[in-house]
Amino acid sequence: MNDKTIDSILEETRQFPPSKESSTGANITKEELEQLKKQASDDYEGFWAQLAKENLYWFKEFTTVLNEENAPNYEWFGDGEINVSYNCLDKNVESSPNKTAIIFEAENGDTRRISYKELLEEVSLFANGLLSLGVETGDRVIIYMPMSPEAVVAMQACARIGAIHSVVFGGFSSNALKDRIDDAKAKIVITADGAFRGGKTIPLKQATDNALKDWNHSIEHVIVLKRTGESVSILEGRDLWWKDLIKNQNKESTPVPLSSEHPLFILYTSGSTGKPKGIQHSSGGYLLHAKMTFKWIFDIKDSDVFWCTADVGWVTGHTYVTYGPLAAGATILIYEGAPTYPHGGRFWEICEKHQVSLFYTAPTAIRALMKLGDDIPNKYDLSNLRLLGTVGEPINPEAWMWYHTVIGKEKCPIVDTWWQTETGAAMISPLPGVTATKPGSCTQALPGISVDIVDEGANPVNQPNKGGYLVIKKPWPSMLRTIWGDNERYIETYWEKFDNKYYVAGDSANMDQDDFFWIMGRIDDVLNVSGHRLGTMEVESALVAHPDIAEAAVVGMPHEVKGEGIFAFVVTKGERPLGAMKNEVTETLRSWVSDQVGPIAKPDEIRFSDNLPKTRSGKIMRRLLRSIAKGEEITQDVSTLEDESIIKQLQQNE
Ligand code: WT7
Repeated sequence: MNDKTIDSILEETRQFPPSKESSTGANITKEELEQLKKQASDDYEGFWAQLAKENLYWFKEFTTVLNEENAPNYEWFGDGEINVSYNCLDKNVESSPNKTAIIFEAENGDTRRISYKELLEEVSLFANGLLSLGVETGDRVIIYMPMSPEAVVAMQACARIGAIHSVVFGGFSSNALKDRIDDAKAKIVITADGAFRGGKTIPLKQATDNALKDWNHSIEHVIVLKRTGESVSILEGRDLWWKDLIKNQNKESTPVPLSSEHPLFILYTSGSTGKPKGIQHSSGGYLLHAKMTFKWIFDIKDSDVFWCTADVGWVTGHTYVTYGPLAAGATILIYEGAPTYPHGGRFWEICEKHQVSLFYTAPTAIRALMKLGDDIPNKYDLSNLRLLGTVGEPINPEAWMWYHTVIGKEKCPIVDTWWQTETGAAMISPLPGVTATKPGSCTQALPGISVDIVDEGANPVNQPNKGGYLVIKKPWPSMLRTIWGDNERYIETYWEKFDNKYYVAGDSANMDQDDFFWIMGRIDDVLNVSGHRLGTMEVESALVAHPDIAEAAVVGMPHEVKGEGIFAFVVTKGERPLGAMKNEVTETLRSWVSDQVGPIAKPDEIRFSDNLPKTRSGKIMRRLLRSIAKGEEITQDVSTLEDESIIKQLQQNE
């Protein structure tokens, strides 16, 4: 995030108190919020225990709430037994079997509605299918699928039998898929022949075949959903079609009672160094916070249609597509395709068509749609919308105001929810019936969540508008449990900085005079591109993996739509490319990175130089590169630079 955005956010003084409509009958009223906060501060464990007992079904009730013995490897409700899929499906089938669980809108406009009863049946068939392939509790299953009801079915089926799923975003390349299969030592890949997106198809099965080529992997079977109908190769004995797998299965399946601490899923996310981290989440604690935050923040009512636009490949697509809403018995909408296909009004058309009442998306999408002009959304009837949400990065006040006026018609509260893959569910967010929102602020911590801003010495900053490290001071139920296979990295990354006392989120933030939080951005070498985390290292490794590249350094730069764009400084092995050659090499490298990691990692700009700016001790001066990427004047001290003339070359882009 650039300094200008920080400034403009700091100047923001507008406030939007909840309207009568949003506060009357809200799931959480002002009094209830105070009550919840008081309970949490009087008896922290008792507070969570009560919520867990009242909101989840336990096969065996827990007796321990929080186990701190192996801190910071905390455990929640550890001796309780639970099944996540039972809580999401069977519980709702008991009370309202015919309620729509999923409305599916395909990219070509086809619609499918699936009731809770039907969803349970599909999940059961598929769970039995997995069992028939020898999948056991604790086995890892990779899900590399299009945005579809079947992706949810696959996740829920894993949860039902205690297999640990790891969803890999369908936009990732076969290389990224391979790394994740390898790290998770997965037994099964569930994929599709292809995915429809933006009028094109993405060949998922082919990418899976590439990922599995030429190495001694752990995969025993690949399950293939037929979606696009393109021809794919089927490896006899290893690959099988989804429909054949479920053909002769029983329609009923017994949910396996699992320890509350049993890993529900691993989700890979970028860190500042090295390979992606497998964030490991639990069953009971995760589901509790997913369900509670869903009810509190989105104020779900029986008649609502909730649409979270996130792909199941991201944590938002886990917590607010597959788990939170289904645990709460809500009707969700799943859209298969691109936001602007076949026209810029597609999102709003879907809202009208399916009477979406709660809409949750990312600032990058809001900015992209805002750029298309007001006429487009104004063509649609958005009167069913009653609440809007945003997540993934700080939202600039301009985009917030547009969302508020043009989409929300000034009547929908906006919930700006701050959280991370690691936190499992939202941590800081307005409550629509209570909080007076301010454009650009995620406002205040949720009940039971203890967030603060501290300085280098772990002291609370306690001063309005002064930045510091965003920390979480108490363990919470949906926190990550570890990094899969690397507990040391877990402790190092999130806890060591403040002697294992506080969870360090990796964001800088400040609080204003009303104790509202304003997120300023990442403090590490992590980019936030379109609301998705990417390590600068990942892009650098991809670049230097190209045979013609000697060195690369990647930094973020402000980007109108994506929030942050990717700026790569590259040193080639031979001559520095000039003129037409430069454009050619640039395009080659852009598609190279796209193949290596995925299209989201494609550098927006590449600049070639004879050398990278390094200190005499050989450290790349990233601060300098960041300034150059932003086109700023160089004001910093460059006296430690080995070769000062390199700056001119980097700036001039010749
Ligand atoms: C990082 C986490 C949580 C789902 C999507 C991203 C940034 C997230 C906000 C927000 C300002 C935000 C933070 C955070 N972030 N939400 N409402 N306001 N920044 O998940 O990929 O794990 O990324 O996204 O920098 O650390 P993620």
